[in-house]
Amino acid sequence: MGFATRLWVAYVRTGAVKERVLRRVLPARMHFVHYSWPLRPGKCPCDVDFCDYLREHNIGGKSVFHFGTGGHHIVGLENARASAPNEVLALTLSPNEHAAYVKRVIRNPSLGKHYKVLFADIYSLSAESLPLFDIVSLFHLCEFNAASTAGWRLGDAEVLRLFRSRLRPHGLMLFYPGSYGFPRLAPLLAQEVAAGRMSLVENYRSLVVYRGNDPGSAAGDPLHG
Ligand SMILES: C[S@@+](CC[C@H](N)C(=O)[O-])C[C@H]1O[C@@H](n2cnc3c(N)ncnc32)[C@H](O)[C@@H]1O
Repeated sequence: MGFATRLWVAYVRTGAVKERVLRRVLPARMHFVHYSWPLRPGKCPCDVDFCDYLREHNIGGKSVFHFGTGGHHIVGLENARASAPNEVLALTLSPNEHAAYVKRVIRNPSLGKHYKVLFADIYSLSAESLPLFDIVSLFHLCEFNAASTAGWRLGDAEVLRLFRSRLRPHGLMLFYPGSYGFPRLAPLLAQEVAAGRMSLVENYRSLVVYRGNDPGSAAGDPLHG
């Protein structure tokens, strides 16, 4: 194990111990992500591939949801550099990742123009709190253990259905088969496909892309010609 990895493991373990102690004192304390995830495209390429996907497919000016910013905020930073930025709403459950966003936006307000980061648990969302999206990334769905917190309203299948229901006609959902949650997610996706609610579009690098099927819409596909 290299020095950087040992440092990372110590950082994560220290945070976990601190949270365990605090939860003893305050059992209702929220379960949140106590670390800030660094950019590691060699180990976790999903966000970098997502940025490339948006750029290579000339997707601009669309409404994008991104689950799991990391402390690096690469999706927001790349979006700010794009000639036609998307309107990105991103989610983190890490106070440190959120603080990194706040710090960056204060230093550089143009980052926040098209990139908003919400500190919220994805399992606590509802349809009423979400706009409609053209593109949804759910790279980390099914990575978490159920029933861990009082704030939860949804399970994994319900999160999947919630975001499918918030897709605009021909909207796309992107997943990350490299996630350790993907073996639990794959049967949920298969169910949606079998029911005709989603269809597979393509594999792109480390990602897989599905389209939400909207039987009521006769409009053309704004994203794929
Ligand atoms: C392993 S990190 C990956 C970050 C980034 N997507 C990447 O690949 O570099 C997981 C991300 O999901 C977020 N996250 C984890 N559980 C969450 C939850 N229940 N609700 C919202 N965000 C969550 C974390 O805050 C973190 O940003």
